[in-house]
Amino acid sequence: MSKAHSDRLVVLTGAGVSAESGIPTFRGAGGLWEGHHPEDLATPSAFRADPDRVWRFYEWRRSIVADHAPNAAHRLLASIEACVPNFDLITQNVDGYHQEAGCPSVIELHGSLWSLRCTQCAHRWKDRRVPLLPPLPTCPMCGSLARPDVVWFGESLPADAIQRATTAASQAGTMLVIGTSSLVYPAAGLPHLARRAGACVVEINPEATPLSPECDRVYRGAATEQLVKWWGEAQSRWLTT
Ligand code: OAD
Ligand code: ZN
Repeated sequence: MSKAHSDRLVVLTGAGVSAESGIPTFRGAGGLWEGHHPEDLATPSAFRADPDRVWRFYEWRRSIVADHAPNAAHRLLASIEACVPNFDLITQNVDGYHQEAGCPSVIELHGSLWSLRCTQCAHRWKDRRVPLLPPLPTCPMCGSLARPDVVWFGESLPADAIQRATTAASQAGTMLVIGTSSLVYPAAGLPHLARRAGACVVEINPEATPLSPECDRVYRGAATEQLVKWWGEAQSRWLTT
């Protein structure tokens, strides 16, 4: 089977898919980066300079996510996963909502708010306590300061996640890109990779993005409404084969 006719469905999500849950996106009015310099909050040097400040930012984000819940778009993606045999879900989101909605093997490109990592040894662990502070969390193995296990500006993506995402994108028959501004690489490069490999690229977003002109189909609007529409139109491809 050629890649162009592959039935592999690969979904890439960004902050817009959690917007209907009440989680702020990053860019634009009301976004997390409005009034903040990301380099003061989401870089290794910011953490070295003021770990308390950076941890308080992540504590705040953990509390927002804990106070809200996955929405209908997360749940519909889990139902789609259940009936599409070759399915991959890649997310830039760190909220864990896809897993909470029932997607078992999400590729988390930017880490997770619920995972911590030691600044000294390689130890990683889950901690879902809210609130988590004070005091600043420490490593259960060596006692050193812990950091959020998320990707900061200037850092590489987790090698296994980018490897799995690249493989999925290059084998996609359809790539569905939901709620991302398509500005942050390498995540933003995945739909281009899929397209070069012959995939049909579909975007769901209320606003135009740099990816929009490259797409085979664009659904303009909010994630849930447009995902329902897309799935209504596209599902026969998977349900009849
Ligand atoms: P952005 O905040 O850059 O973009 C959010 C996108 O969601 C925009 O294109 C909006 O138009 C769209 N959107 C808003 N409401 C929506 C809705 N109801 N339904 C669907 N779409 C909606 O967020 P990301 O693209 O996810 O990285 O940002 C990418 C990365 O930049 C993040 O993972 C984060 C950030 O810096 C790191 O922290 C490493
Ligand atoms: Zn340690």
